[in-house]
Amino acid sequence: MIFGRKKRKPITIVDKKVVDWKYAVCGYCSTGCSIEVGLNSEGKPVASRGKGNAPVNQGKLCIKGIFEHELSGTAGRGTEPLVRNKIYDSFQPASWDVALDKTAAEFMRIQEKYGRDSVAVVSTGQLLTEEFYTLGKLVRGVLGTNNYDGNTTLCMASAVSGYKRSFGADGPPGCYDDFESTHCLLAFGSNLPEQHPIIYWRLKEALEKRKFPLIVIDPRVTMFAQFADIHLPITPGTDLVLLNAFAHVILAEGLQDESYIAAHCNGFDEFKATVAKYDPVTASRICGIDADMIKNVARIYAKAPSAMSIWTMGINQSTHGTDGVCGINNLNLITGNIGIPGGTSLSITGQCNAMGTREWSSCSGLPGYRMLEKQEHRDEVAKFWGVDEAFFPAKRGLQQTDIFPAIESGEIKALWIVATNPLTSMPNQPRIKKALEKLEFMVVQDGYKDCETVNFAHVYLPGALWGEKEGVQTNTERRVNLVRKFVEPPGQAKPDHWVFSELAKRFERGRAMSFPETSSDIFDEMKSLSKGDKRNLDISGMSHDLIEAQRGIQWPMREGEETGNPRLYSDGVYPTPNGKANLLAMDYIEDNEVPNKSYPFWLNSGRVVEHFHTRTKTGKIGNLNKFSPTPYMEMNPDSAREQGVKHQSYVRLVSKRGDAVVMVQLTQRVPHNMVFIPMHYHDCVNRLSLGLLDPYSRQPAFKQCAVRIEQIDQQEAARLNVERRAF
Ligand code: SF4
Ligand code: MOS
Repeated sequence: MIFGRKKRKPITIVDKKVVDWKYAVCGYCSTGCSIEVGLNSEGKPVASRGKGNAPVNQGKLCIKGIFEHELSGTAGRGTEPLVRNKIYDSFQPASWDVALDKTAAEFMRIQEKYGRDSVAVVSTGQLLTEEFYTLGKLVRGVLGTNNYDGNTTLCMASAVSGYKRSFGADGPPGCYDDFESTHCLLAFGSNLPEQHPIIYWRLKEALEKRKFPLIVIDPRVTMFAQFADIHLPITPGTDLVLLNAFAHVILAEGLQDESYIAAHCNGFDEFKATVAKYDPVTASRICGIDADMIKNVARIYAKAPSAMSIWTMGINQSTHGTDGVCGINNLNLITGNIGIPGGTSLSITGQCNAMGTREWSSCSGLPGYRMLEKQEHRDEVAKFWGVDEAFFPAKRGLQQTDIFPAIESGEIKALWIVATNPLTSMPNQPRIKKALEKLEFMVVQDGYKDCETVNFAHVYLPGALWGEKEGVQTNTERRVNLVRKFVEPPGQAKPDHWVFSELAKRFERGRAMSFPETSSDIFDEMKSLSKGDKRNLDISGMSHDLIEAQRGIQWPMREGEETGNPRLYSDGVYPTPNGKANLLAMDYIEDNEVPNKSYPFWLNSGRVVEHFHTRTKTGKIGNLNKFSPTPYMEMNPDSAREQGVKHQSYVRLVSKRGDAVVMVQLTQRVPHNMVFIPMHYHDCVNRLSLGLLDPYSRQPAFKQCAVRIEQIDQQEAARLNVERRAF
């Protein structure tokens, strides 16, 4: 007998009539799941499924991946270039020639009048790696502006700076397979099940086979914290204090790996002297974790035969972001946990190809992790591209977070935005809006013409999106994977690499260089540039076809090798002058905006599983939007009672920068003195955020500022909310 089922119709799975499946890697998060997109007989994408046997996801996908084919045909796409003379005038459709001629002419005029660096370029983590490489070639070799950055500055910049300070180069040394052999996992400021669901699935699978302690450090009781064995609800922005205290306990109790430190580390004495000041009792008063717990966790970590640390924005988006990353690296170095199975530092990246931009876009220097500051790197790249080495700037210029202030001060007059949306994603939005209004010329190149930042552009260039062009992306664990083209871009939209080479042709310098036309030709160029003695970022053994056949390959893969390499630094040799890693002595300096009498709550922000970044894409997908349609604020029920705030009522949040109206969601996930808002919505959390910068990475402290809560008229609030969001 079947309970209560008698009269129900059985569930039927709709036959989507797929006639062909095309290979791709997911275009949302950096997990890097292999997907197959199903096409019907008309060539329309109608289904997505996880690729079986793919090393990352073994056939699984998260809710975003499952609906990814729906991206094709979403509303708001740009189908032709648009131009206008003044922002707020109406846009006129234009041919590519007209739009690109105007762009080139404006860049030339402005550079001639105000200097090369008066044109700034801000790119993304969304393009294919071949496109990043082409953009870098255009900016470094043709435009020659040094004010060039990616939106990764809002996201992974602290991880990049931290890897460089500790190990001498960027590049996450570990991999997902490390879950299979680790004996302890420490996660900092990462809500893995919601942000990177399939990495979480990999971890969970490893834990089901073999139990090991999972320790989550996060001010909020995130979904990940709920699944942890130990949760440390740390005071925002104080990770360095906790990390120094862990090291203090390890050294005080003699739990360090002496031989690893002696053979592979610089700076031990100075490091030891600094952490000596961070005894657990002193540390507990700053970071809010009690002294016994600090000792307990330090011992578990140091005594484990192998232990690993992962982290995401909770570490990076802080005024001590880079120090936090170096603190994690310190912990792993003194316990001998780098480059061994299950022992590693592993930053969990954000966007699908944020790694590709770090590796190949030349944002922070020259392609393939080369540096502007190193003469041999300058010579090598200049010769390869056929440009004069002296044309390259002496060192890296402004990052995104310094580009906007330079617009305010009048140093920068033109801005080219590629596939990013600073009007929603930058902290202190009221200030960003004013800066954009000041520009003499702005170009936005994006797949969507309804992206908020387009409202401030003089020229809009429609880009092709996921599946409308072929190329590679690199995931969190350095795995290079391929997206095949399976559908035509709408109207006149073009692949971004086409736009870059067409623009290059409009400059004398560009005509003197070669810009290959197909993405596999660009990939071949990158391969030969990646070859070299002792280079880790070597992809010379890969090809598009081999990548598809192996469903992604981890670099380094050198010519002649059969596959990639899962880990870096297994030989204990680091890309520093003497081949040793750096232990860093870092003191904690309190420099943040913290709650006070007038603004008594911490404002924290983060992601929800249904949405990606500023919702330019996921805001258009029916099912994702249905589950998470509107911004809300998590608030502790006890503080809500004190403030007289009701569940599901609207409140006005006020910071020193601006205000936002949100619906209240009462939950014990946030402590008494904190509220939390998802980061994805326009005109919401970044109307309030301050975004003080990390001194090394220039990354903003999105997650730490102070707000107060005001009661408002409910009908007025609903009206205001709709109006603002309809921007
Ligand atoms: Fe895509 Fe990330 Fe989801 Fe995998 S986990 S399907 S890469 S969004
Ligand atoms: Mo990021 S979201 O890894 O640029």
